[in-house]
Amino acid sequence: MRESGRRVGLILAELREMIKPGLETRQLDCYAEKRILELGGVPAFKGYNGYPASLCVSINEEIVHGIPSGRRLKEGDLVSLDFGVIYGGFYGDAAITVPVGEVSEEARRLIEVAERSFYQGLEYLKEGNHLSDISAAIQTEVEKAGFSVIRDFVGHGIGRELHEGPQIPNFGLPGHGPKLKKGMTLAIEPMITSGHYEVAILSDNWTAVTRDHSLAAHFEHSVAITESGVEILTANDKKWRP
Ligand code: MF3
Ligand code: CO
Repeated sequence: MRESGRRVGLILAELREMIKPGLETRQLDCYAEKRILELGGVPAFKGYNGYPASLCVSINEEIVHGIPSGRRLKEGDLVSLDFGVIYGGFYGDAAITVPVGEVSEEARRLIEVAERSFYQGLEYLKEGNHLSDISAAIQTEVEKAGFSVIRDFVGHGIGRELHEGPQIPNFGLPGHGPKLKKGMTLAIEPMITSGHYEVAILSDNWTAVTRDHSLAAHFEHSVAITESGVEILTANDKKWRP
C-alpha cells in the first residue's frame, strides 16, 4: 500500500505543477499514464467499470469522474485531479483540487475547506473510534464554512480492491458504523460544493456535476491506521527512491 500510495502522491504533485491556462485536460491524463508505467505500476481507473482514462479531471461545477478531453483549462478554473494506481496487487487513490491561475476568493476558500475538512476527519482516525466520527467531523467543518457536502459519493476501504467496505460518507452523526482498528486502510475523500449538494450525471454517463452549477472541490488520501498512529499513504514524500 505504501508503494502504490507514494506513486499516486508523486504523480499528483507533478500534475499540480503542470496546471496552467491553455493545457488540454487529456495532456494531464497522458502524463499520468506514462509516468505510472515508467515508475512501475498500473493506472487503476482505466477500464474500471468501463472508465476510459487513467485520470479523472473535473472542472468547476464538475464534482468527480470528469473525463479528460481536448478541453483546455482557462484562467479562473478550479480543477480536481483524481488518480489511482495498482502496484504489487495493492491500490492507492488520492485527489487534489488546484486553481488555474488567479481564481475567485470563493474558489480559493472552497479548496482550503475541502482540504481542512479532510484533516479534521483524520483527527478521528484512531483505534476504538467509530467510522462515522470521521464523517461527522468532515461535515461539521464544511458546513461551518457555509458549504455543502456531497451525499451521492463517499469514501471507502481500499486494499486489494479500489473500493472495499466500509463506505465512508462525508456526513452523518458521530458514534455509528464499524469501530476503527489498526491495520485498516481507508480512502477518505470529502467532495464539497459552494451551493447545494444535489448531483446530476452528464450524458457521457460519468461526469458528476452540481445540479445548481455551484463550484465543487475534492480532496482525498489513502490512509492507514498503524501501530504508531495514522499514516498518509498517498503523501508526496518528495525524494523518489526506485
Ligand atoms: N477515484 C474515485 C474514488 O475516489 C474512483 C474513480 S474510478 C473511475 O473512489 F473509474 F471513475 F475513475
Ligand atoms: Co476514492
